[in-house]
Amino acid sequence: MPQKSTYLEFAGGPPAKPAAHAVLNAGRYNSAEFMKREWDRMWTRTWLLAGVEADVADPGDFFVFELGPESIIVTRNREGALTAMYNACQHRGNRILTRERGSLPAFTCPYHGWRYDLEGRLLLVPDADRFEQGTPCDRLSLKPVRVESWAGLVWINMDPECGPLSDFLGVIPEQLAPYHFESMVLAEDQTVTVDANWKTVIDNFNEQYHVDFIHPQHASFVDCCNAENELWPFGHRRVIVEGGVVNPRYPIPTEVPPVLAAVIQPIGLNPADFSGRVTEVRRAIQLRKREISAERGVDFSAFTDEQLSDVYQYDLFPNIIMTIQAEELWVMRPRPHPTDPNRCFFDKIVLKATFSPSAPPPSQGRPEREVLTRDDVLAGRTSMNITVDQDLFYLPFMQAGMASRGFSQAWLNQDESRVQHFHDWLDVYMAD
Ligand code: FES
Ligand SMILES: [Fe+2]
Repeated sequence: MPQKSTYLEFAGGPPAKPAAHAVLNAGRYNSAEFMKREWDRMWTRTWLLAGVEADVADPGDFFVFELGPESIIVTRNREGALTAMYNACQHRGNRILTRERGSLPAFTCPYHGWRYDLEGRLLLVPDADRFEQGTPCDRLSLKPVRVESWAGLVWINMDPECGPLSDFLGVIPEQLAPYHFESMVLAEDQTVTVDANWKTVIDNFNEQYHVDFIHPQHASFVDCCNAENELWPFGHRRVIVEGGVVNPRYPIPTEVPPVLAAVIQPIGLNPADFSGRVTEVRRAIQLRKREISAERGVDFSAFTDEQLSDVYQYDLFPNIIMTIQAEELWVMRPRPHPTDPNRCFFDKIVLKATFSPSAPPPSQGRPEREVLTRDDVLAGRTSMNITVDQDLFYLPFMQAGMASRGFSQAWLNQDESRVQHFHDWLDVYMAD
């Protein structure tokens, strides 16, 4: 059976299928003009996942969200509300915070000592009486950025006129409520620099056409060719891939393949029990997970059977790929480079439910962010996970090939509908 793709509306939202039909030519991925317009028209006008709320749990906690040429401080004020502001001193523009995250009672610019409170109000200016144009404290503050949170994830929007985050996310928060991301703990935090445009990375995670070829280990245990794609307003997408099954393009094996065995052993299922019954593994996973939840006193009643066995991937416009299972959430996020359309920073964080056996103990604290290069991955010094490592290997080759005089534009098939949908919505922003 081929993959299915369906346009689905949000109540009260815009049509899921935009009028725009994007052409995926090379300039879209490597021209400075497109990059500049993308910044002006899209990045500065949409909701963006900036970080996790656990990093700003208490007043004064902060993290800095770097995106393209911009740097934004997210913090929690004395009243306990999230605040966000541009990381640009009102004196002469210096970046005030250069640390990734931490906790401070106030933000002091290191250059001349201007000090701001947790809402960006200017509190103190050395030699304030020497400003002939007036006391700056009365007039200046760090420029605010819109901020909201959903399920323990912090979102910012640089457009002061933007609508609420809930309108943008539509049905997504309700669908994902059973997972309780807000109760999960950060277990992994990695960033790799990639010699590819951020959209080359998004495209990679928006089709499974490549899976049989560059991820042969997947063929044995997920059913990519029957996946269902949902195409939503604002360019969001979802794909559901059945887990615990074997790919119907291949003969059904007699024994549980090793990769599938590695999935079921940790939940207490014995691969040998499924000898000659490999097609029953998926249902067994669903039942076993409900048993485990009862044993551990975890409420799985809000999950559907499918949510317990399958992989749900939510692609949130513009740059978030969420891979979701009952026990853990992966968030993958390519961020544009400040100046080079041929490069991006690719973040991967993993959040784990506290009931997951592999969740880090609370005493361990938050892991430091691991900053790595593609060479680190290829040399085996570190890994983002075997599948992602395989993708990383190919991404620069995609980027380089598109720049060839011998390439004009992409030629997509039906199983690449999420790629097309994402670009169609990008064009909606670009045209405005
Ligand atoms: S640039 Fe910040 S105090 Fe001067
Ligand atoms: Fe891949």
